[in-house]
Amino acid sequence: MKGVVLAGGIGSRLHPLTKITNKHLLPIYNKPMIFYPIETLVNAGIRDILIVTGGKNSGDFLRLLANGKEFGLKHLDYTYQEGEGGIADALSLAEHFADGGKLCVILGDNIIEGNIRRAGDDFRRQERGAKILLKEVADAGRFGVAEIDGDRIVNIEEKPKHPRSNHAVTGIYFYDATVFEKIKHLKPSGRGELEITDVNNAYIREGGMTYDFLGGWWTDAGTFDSLLRAANLVAENGANRAPEEIAAATRSEGK
Ligand code: DAU
Repeated sequence: MKGVVLAGGIGSRLHPLTKITNKHLLPIYNKPMIFYPIETLVNAGIRDILIVTGGKNSGDFLRLLANGKEFGLKHLDYTYQEGEGGIADALSLAEHFADGGKLCVILGDNIIEGNIRRAGDDFRRQERGAKILLKEVADAGRFGVAEIDGDRIVNIEEKPKHPRSNHAVTGIYFYDATVFEKIKHLKPSGRGELEITDVNNAYIREGGMTYDFLGGWWTDAGTFDSLLRAANLVAENGANRAPEEIAAATRSEGK
């Protein structure tokens, strides 16, 4: 399975921090933001990674990441999203890279404490369809929100005013190759973007969506508050930790 980090978009919610640099190059404690999602993919055993960038500073990604030696990689792929057409628009650029295989897609501003190895292995065994990772949150209205019935997701609503659950859809998605056909049928949403939630609902409608809950903390970093929260979480606990490491720390903290 290959991996895709989506790091396009303009980051307008972080203006003026994003006036002269790309949001994903901003620091989260001691590393640039983009390091964290790359590490998440590498920890799940993914070695073929495409970075989708955009905006005026895309050349800086190449200078920063080069061929991914820092992550133990031999090579990184890059592509460029023109404009800010949405997460699904950015993902559509990965069709050639995917080459008919499965993908793990992660948003460039999503940071996790633990790892996604179990979900990744489960999806490698899943014959077809998609898989998403959910997290219980207090402010679900900021995210895609999943409605669950028994062991099935029945619908996802993007940033609902009145969330039907507290199950946020994290920005970590597993897709089979039919994702690109689904994206081709999307229409732009009210905010003028091709929404990843519409892609996920297409999988739900055809009965191909599975889910799991993400362990450890999870945060995005696309607003001033979440950027600060992300830095504090990383500084206090570390990110992308192995399960044994989290278990040992929890024991020693007497939790
Ligand atoms: O963080 C999880 C949430 O991410 C999900 O719960 C939502 O369902 C999903 O829509 C998304 O919500 P946001 O509104 O927070 O997404 P945002 O526009 O901040 O974009 C998140 C990342 O996606 C961004 O850091 C880079 C990438 N992106 C985004 C856009 C709009 C692109 O690569 N290109 C784009 O055009």
